[in-house]
This record gives sequence, structure tokens and C-alpha cells, in this order.
Amino acid sequence: MTIWHNPLWRAAAVALLLSAASCGTESPEAEDADVVLGDDAGEDGTGDADTDAHSEDDAGLSGPTYYAHIRPMMAARCNECHVEDAIAPMALDTYEGIKEMGRLALGAMETGVMPPWPPSEECGPPLKNRRHISEEEIALFREWVEAGYPEGESGDAPELEGDENAPVFERGTPDLTLDWGFEYTPEPPLAEAVDDYRCFVIDPELHEDQFLNAVRTRPGNTRVVHHALVYSVSEDQAARLAQLEAEDERPGYTCFGGPRTSDPWLLSGWVPGTMPLEFEEGHGVRIEAGSKIVVQMHYNTVNDTEGSDRSLFDLYFVDQDETSRVTELVIIPLAELGLQIEAGDPDAVAVEEGPEIPISLTLHGVAPHMHLLGKSINVTAQTGTGEVCLMDIPAWDFNWQGFYLYEEPQVLRYPVTPRLECRYDNSPANQPDGRPPQEVRWGEGTYDEMCLNYFIVERPPGF
Ligand code: HEC
Repeated sequence: MTIWHNPLWRAAAVALLLSAASCGTESPEAEDADVVLGDDAGEDGTGDADTDAHSEDDAGLSGPTYYAHIRPMMAARCNECHVEDAIAPMALDTYEGIKEMGRLALGAMETGVMPPWPPSEECGPPLKNRRHISEEEIALFREWVEAGYPEGESGDAPELEGDENAPVFERGTPDLTLDWGFEYTPEPPLAEAVDDYRCFVIDPELHEDQFLNAVRTRPGNTRVVHHALVYSVSEDQAARLAQLEAEDERPGYTCFGGPRTSDPWLLSGWVPGTMPLEFEEGHGVRIEAGSKIVVQMHYNTVNDTEGSDRSLFDLYFVDQDETSRVTELVIIPLAELGLQIEAGDPDAVAVEEGPEIPISLTLHGVAPHMHLLGKSINVTAQTGTGEVCLMDIPAWDFNWQGFYLYEEPQVLRYPVTPRLECRYDNSPANQPDGRPPQEVRWGEGTYDEMCLNYFIVERPPGF
């Protein structure tokens, strides 16, 4: 079963039938394909083009020291999250802090767990805002740990500039700031649990369609906000939203896997350390007049059981004067709704293949989604130039879901058949709260699963 509610998929199928009937297999879109995926996929995904400020200046005389080498490395690679009052459990921005964590930190780097960056480097085109640490940096850190954490002279400390490769976001005043309007104190619904998934409904009061070009999430309390997803929900779901809010005793309503309405459109995703989501200039995702916005907050109360939060979301629209020149992006889900995972199965597989689309598509990025039993997810497409890998997450972690944009938009040459493969561990050892394994199906609850990917594509002319 496929999510067919998107008009583009439906239109594509109609076009396919029409083109088959007229036996015209050539598509005009194919001509202006400037980057054809499949030719260069994977080529430079693994290359480490970063200028490596931290490994070239050790003259080899005395080995790495905290002040000269480790402190700037931590600042660039770790401390966007590992400072006081952030979601990560410990601060790594002092000598004592990193010394105490030394072996554990080394292990986390060696195994690739930290800095968190789930996508495999072997699959697909290079991604924007990639978090990483190079082999040279890890080797330097290892040398420092093995030398017994030499502190060095604080006078050797270079100015901390953060990561000079990190992109900056300078957009000034947003067109609209979403605010649900009050402080919310997370309260995990399950006893002993630390997670609270809350949806808040916000009316952006749009009287005409807008094209969303960028979203900047401003978490109110970084000790409790673990991730935030922003959805737009069409006007006809307003009654459903009001019902969900009314049924819940607490502010907003409880939601785990999505907003619990039909046809929610994912607009943006944020996890700690994520850059604001920003599409190419002049590109935007349509938010229809009258839509409601639902923000889904994942709170984790491990670090703070009392803290409250009021997060803000800055939206930037494509300038209305330029609307005639907007390149519209559509975020299309492909999902396996017939998902059925046997109780106890340690390696259940779900595969969903989309319809064959008879035109070339320009793909800007992807956003895969599963829940807690998910092990891995792989997104590919069969195209006119062969099979291409679009995203591979070999060790799925629900806490690090991403909205991944490619450095360069990718043209998938017609005909395009997208494919999704999801794997799950439903064995007794992998149950969210230790209860015996049950058969699991598609749904938005904590005990349900999903096998879903959003494709961020340019709306082809004429669709
Ligand atoms: C984007 C945010 C972020 C960045 C960047 C990051 N961490 Fe973490 N780190 C976390 C969070 C959050 C946790 C808590 C566990 C979790 O949620 O995955 C964590 C946990 C850890 C742990 C404990 C892991 C364990 O096994 O218990 C270590 C050690 C660690 N980080 C080291 C590092 C080091 C070293 C770096 C830099 C190379 C780094 N982290 C970069 C967010 C981050």
C-alpha cells in the first residue's frame, strides 16, 4: 500500500498511462538535467575535504595538549551540545570535564556514535550541515588520552572560533514567529518514563498561500527539548485538532509518531545542534491559506524533571513579489502502510516501492522516519541511469531523526521508481518498556511503527 494522497504521485501515474498510450517515452525534462545521479553518487561522500585546523600544528615535539589541541577540537566538534544547560548529559568544555570523560569520549568517537550523524557516508550525494570528526582528529585525541591528558599552557590556547566550516544563518527578522503562547512543563505519561511527546496547534493566520523558505527553531529550554517537528495541516482538519486538544487534560495533546490527523505535511525537523532548515533561494514549500501548524515536541526529562519550555519557530517565506518565480518544493511521503512486524522477530523487513514516475525529478533532500523498533532504513530509486542510493541509516536512532538536504539538488532521470527498505528488531530484548513483544503495525502510537520517507522534490512544471 502506498500513500496516494499526494496529487503529484497521482498525476504522475496518470501521466504514465497517457505517455504509454501515446507511446511517447521521451520526456522534455530530461534534457536540462545538469546533475544526473548515478554518475557521481557516492563519489565524494566519503572524502574529507575539510581543512583540518587541529592536526597540522602539532610540531611533534611534545604531543597534543589540552589547550593547544583538544580544547579547539571539542569546541568545533562537540560543544554545540556538550555544554552546561544543554541536552547532552555532560559538559566537555573544560579540562576537568573532558579529562573525566576521556576514555568514554574516545570510544564514542571511534565507534562513530559521537558526534551524532546517522547517515552512512557510503550512500548518496554529500549532505548539507554534515557533523563529523576526521580520523586524524580521533588519532590526535587518542594520543592525548594515552599520554595521560597533558594540559599544556593556557597561553597556547588559540582563539576559539568554533568550526570554521560551519555554515552561518543570517536572515534577520522572520516573516512569522510561531509561538504556542505559554510555558509547558513536560510530564512523561508513562510511570518511570522520561519522554513526553506533545503536539501544540498554532494558527499562523495565513490569508494567502505562502512558500516556506527557511525555518529556524529556537528551543526555549535546551535541557528538556530533544527534538521538534513542524507540520502543516489543512483547514479541513481543524475540527479533528480541536477534538484532540479537548480530549487531553493537559495543554496541547499527546502525540508520538505524528500529529494524528490525516494528511499532515512535514515542514521541518530539529534536533540539538541542527542548523536552521534553509532551502535554496527562491525555493519554498507551500503552506496553504487557512492551514494550521502543528509542532510536535519531544521532551526528555533526564536532565531536568521540573523545567518548563516555550519554544519558538521563526519562519521565512519566499518574497511574495517574487512569487511568480518561486520554485515550489513538495514534500512527498512514501510509506509502507501495510506494515506488519511479527512478535519476537529480531530482523523484520518491510519494503515499499513507489509507482514508476515517467518524468525526471529534482530531489533536494529526504527525511526518513521510523519509531523505536527501527534498526535501519534505506532509500533508493531506480532511475533512467540506474539505481541510486539516496539515504542509508545503518543504525537508526529515533532520537536523531533528520531532515537531510543535499549540498546540490539531484536530478533523478526518468523513469524514477523510489524504494524504501526498513528493518526492525521486535525481539524481547528490544522492547521500549520491557513488555513482551507484540505484533506491531503501522500507527502513530509509541508501540506502533512506521516505514516512511519524505522526498523533497521540485514540483515539475505542469503538475
Ligand atoms: C548534536 C549534539 C551533540 C554533539 C555535536 C555531540 N554530542 Fe555527545 N551526546 C549528545 C547527547 C544528546 C548525548 C546523550 C545520549 C544521546 O541522546 O544520544 C550524548 C552522549 C555522549 C556521550 C555518552 C555516550 C555514552 O555511551 O553514554 C559521550 C562520551 C559523548 N556524547 C561524547 C561526545 C564527543 C566526544 C563529541 C564530539 C566529538 C560529541 N559527543 C558530540 C549530543 C551531542
